[in-house]
Amino acid sequence: MRLTAPAIAAMKGEKRVVSVTAYDAPTARLAEQAGVDFLLVGDSVAMVVLGQENTLEVTMDAMIHHCRAVVRGTRTTHVVLDLPFMSYQGGEDDAVRNAGRALKEGQAQSVKIEGGARLAPLVARLVDAGIPIMGHVGLRPQSVNQTGGFRTQGTDAASADEVISDAAAIAEAGAFAIVLEKIPSELAAHITAHVAIPTIGIGSGPGCDGQVLVLHDMLGMDEQFQPMHSKRYASLAVTIRDAIAAYVADVHEGRFPGEEHSVHASKDLAAHLRARG
Ligand code: KIV
Repeated sequence: MRLTAPAIAAMKGEKRVVSVTAYDAPTARLAEQAGVDFLLVGDSVAMVVLGQENTLEVTMDAMIHHCRAVVRGTRTTHVVLDLPFMSYQGGEDDAVRNAGRALKEGQAQSVKIEGGARLAPLVARLVDAGIPIMGHVGLRPQSVNQTGGFRTQGTDAASADEVISDAAAIAEAGAFAIVLEKIPSELAAHITAHVAIPTIGIGSGPGCDGQVLVLHDMLGMDEQFQPMHSKRYASLAVTIRDAIAAYVADVHEGRFPGEEHSVHASKDLAAHLRARG
């Protein structure tokens, strides 16, 4: 049985919620073994896996494809599918259809949508349709063209008030948890104290109910990219490149494949091959 959305909601005040993003079965399996509570099939897949410039290009079909892989790799972890840009902004019916696809085709247990108070009626409608919703306020990467970059949000009184009312509206509309991305720690702690659902921080300090990190950032998959809010727990770029370089050298130098990697012909087949000349 997978951890459910109500079980995650019930963790508020009891236990910190921990999550990483996942996009494929093997890393999802490892994250489950490591003890995360939920896996976010983030639209960050566009940037960290597909090499795209931002998250806007990734499609609903691609998100479903990656989500199914994450679900196949796990047994007990809750899986959240991040609805991609333009899968829910174009109208409520479209949003319900795509959120439904996330659960039916993607096999996710819940979906995440980016947005504030304006999206509250949609959140209520999705919840009414039986679709658990994770909100996402503060920095909203899908609005990067409007906000002018991946900047910290809520840095002055007016914009902090806006983030506070966005979070409250999404929580009151029935979301089971809410991501707070890249807002000042004090603002995140304030929201955490005033909403009834777990806040999941990324770049928003220690005062949240839980944390989520982009897996490729924490594993050091890109040596050139070290976001300030993330912590590098490994340097896989180095490990992977060194491993592939060792393989390249082994092939060049004739060290691979060795006897232990090879199968040999039977006596009959060897004789046949010799007879062919
Ligand atoms: O897509 C993603 O990885 C996210 C996280 C930044 C929360 O939405």
